[in-house]
Amino acid sequence: MADTRTLSKYWMITNDFTQNPYPVLEYVRRESPVRELAMPGGGRAWVVTRYEDAKAALADPRLSRDIHVQYELMSKLAGRPMTPPPEEANHLANLEPPRHTPLRKAISFAFTPRRAEALRPRVEEIADELLDRLAGEPVPDLIAGYADPLPVITIAELMGVPAKAWPDFLRWSTALRSHSPTDGEGVLDRSIKELSRYMSELIAAKQSEPGEDLLSALIHAAPERRLTSTEILSTGFALMTGGNDTTASLVGGVIAALLTHPAERTELLAEPGRWGKSMDELIRYVSPISNALQRVTTEPVELGGVTIPAGEIVVISVMSTNRDTDQFPDHPDRLDLSRHKPAHLSFGFGIHYCSGAHLAKVITEIGARRLFERFPGVTLAVDPSELRYQANPVVRPLQALPVRW
Ligand code: HEM
Repeated sequence: MADTRTLSKYWMITNDFTQNPYPVLEYVRRESPVRELAMPGGGRAWVVTRYEDAKAALADPRLSRDIHVQYELMSKLAGRPMTPPPEEANHLANLEPPRHTPLRKAISFAFTPRRAEALRPRVEEIADELLDRLAGEPVPDLIAGYADPLPVITIAELMGVPAKAWPDFLRWSTALRSHSPTDGEGVLDRSIKELSRYMSELIAAKQSEPGEDLLSALIHAAPERRLTSTEILSTGFALMTGGNDTTASLVGGVIAALLTHPAERTELLAEPGRWGKSMDELIRYVSPISNALQRVTTEPVELGGVTIPAGEIVVISVMSTNRDTDQFPDHPDRLDLSRHKPAHLSFGFGIHYCSGAHLAKVITEIGARRLFERFPGVTLAVDPSELRYQANPVVRPLQALPVRW
């Protein structure tokens, strides 16, 4: 059991924490649920770990997601102006009302449950094509070969990106996520520039030749709802950055969970109608989002009995809220498919609630179901204790998921 004496000041960004966060989070929830965390570059953040506090924080307009508010704060902490956020980052996930509202409205038609359901046959085809490619490999990695490309291809196609550009999309998506100081100079910048150039050209082409896709629908929307080309470009970035890594993290996590829970897997395969009902429990248990739903306080805010001054970073640990016994009293560390629609916070809460939640569920259900239907004998090629998670403050993907058919 973790205790204060062993918790380093950078406790949330250590490898031990990344690999096995739940005992530490359980301790923090109990002892100091709204707790300071030192940032490696200097300064501090406040970590919110209890479900009720997290929900209150996500609903509170004094906690801002505006990227410009964050930029001001970072510049203040650094004592010099930082590089301002690129134009592509001015998207709905990074803005607050009033700018957030029309951007959110503009895409809402494309993410209804009905639209997500209509995509099922196509997602199934994409899943099957990826599985066909992996079928000949003796020990395929289901992260690189399956969980990663499945959402990237689905979302690229939904936006209207032609198939020949999908490999580039996969490359850009990986660069946006896995960039770290050791990746080499400029990988992230170059990927953002390439993606931005490609998307701008695509948007221009769809102005004269629209297709049956999301970008065309945004370009040719009714004048009162029409976005500028720059807003359409940044919306494309929001969908890629918001949809790819998160869904990949969930697809990989759900497959791993079912590989290690054979009884639950048999139950789902015996009664396909159970997938839909069980999806929220799988999402709660897997927790595809790790720690950082990040906000900045624009005024002093009291959370869980702690007053956080204005101008401070607040980090909401979704992963922690998903195991909070006050919210999920019945053994939250267990995957329990009979738990009825657990009200997890994995898709956020409030005005920034995930636009793609229905789509993410459809992609995940089909991704996991097709794998187990086609390869009923599939097993992990390593001991479950050898599975490793990627260090990432936002999502919680496995590094690799090697299997044998
Ligand atoms: C398992 C998969 C996914 C998870 C766990 C997830 C999670 C989230 C969360 C937690 C937020 C709120 C962020 C905040 O409040 O700070 C969010 C917002 C958002 N997500 Fe997702 N997401 C997933 C898939 C998708 C997909 C497939 C798309 C679209 C293709 C998408 C598009 C968005 C967008 C556009 C926003 C911003 C909404 C706004 O600010 O109004 N997400 N997502």
